[in-house]
Amino acid sequence: MMRRTDNLVRPNVLKLVPYSCARDEYEGSDGTFLDANESPYGPLNRYPDPRQRELRQAISRHKGIPAQNIFLGNGSDEIIDLCFRIFCNPGKDRAMVFTPTYGMYRVAASVNDIEVISIPLNVTFNIDLQAARPWLQDETLKLIFICSPNNPTGNCMDRETVETIIREFKGIVVIDEAYADFSGKPSFAKRTGEFDNLIVMQTFSKAMGLAAARVGMAFADIDILKYFFAMKPPYNISTINQEAALQRLYEADIVASRVQSVIAERNRLVSRLAGLRVVEKVWPSDANFLLVRVKDADYVYNTLASGKIIVRNRSREIPGCIRITTGTAEENNRLISELEKIGI
Ligand SMILES: Cc1ncc(COP(=O)(O)O)c(C=O)c1O
Repeated sequence: MMRRTDNLVRPNVLKLVPYSCARDEYEGSDGTFLDANESPYGPLNRYPDPRQRELRQAISRHKGIPAQNIFLGNGSDEIIDLCFRIFCNPGKDRAMVFTPTYGMYRVAASVNDIEVISIPLNVTFNIDLQAARPWLQDETLKLIFICSPNNPTGNCMDRETVETIIREFKGIVVIDEAYADFSGKPSFAKRTGEFDNLIVMQTFSKAMGLAAARVGMAFADIDILKYFFAMKPPYNISTINQEAALQRLYEADIVASRVQSVIAERNRLVSRLAGLRVVEKVWPSDANFLLVRVKDADYVYNTLASGKIIVRNRSREIPGCIRITTGTAEENNRLISELEKIGI
């Protein structure tokens, strides 16, 4: 039976016969394995589990989301790229983003020859529904990316607006919740059963502290995820990285207390920064970073960098602004004392 979402999928993807690897054909873990042309000598001689069953089960328990509704990518960045490759015909289809936002949506669109419709966020850094609405019925618009909390503005998008877009849009809505653990606000990850056109992304790179391991998560209806499983390279998450992520899930208490420390430090930074002469404005943040307007962003960036404190200069996208990631108390103190010295 054709589903609504099947009609959004590229014809070549609908016809795709996925590669069937040795580990797909025989699923047991005991035996004499002479099937995958691996070395017989350990310890990392065997290919990883292509379906990451143990890790997906552990995420399922951790999040209360069925394992069949979880897909893992080599970072969220692989998932973003797969969204384009599954749903967008190069040179024909379009995707929408709300700017300023995370730059990879645009890069992945360019790689896949997809035009991006860019709708500027309003003055409160929220989605301008009136500006987006005329596009929601456009047949060439296949993907809408909503980054919430948004990078680099730090705020969550208004939930009602997000829901309106999911309901009115005929294509796929991707909500990127990379920073959700710092927000204290409800996630959309458990609501994919309600909306067959919704993909929610999260990652092990931020609150879980595993950016080096490259493990991104997508939560969606099985009728969407089946295409992701078919399209991905068979062994997209290495055994080492699967084990690192699994281990981190067993340390959930440590992760939770580190998230609390980062939130406390972020809040302390907000008040300390607000009292500095060089700082003009600090926006509230639902993430682990702050958007800060300073008197001269290039000068502040360069001065900090010469003292080996590296922040992100975002002044090309948002005039006068830098983005500061929350560090440890010690790192944040160094930042504040360097900023105190800047005499502009
Ligand atoms: C909004 C957003 N999504 C995704 C990512 C990257 O996630 P990953 O490390 O899982 O590729 C970032 C990284 O900065 C981000 O800001």
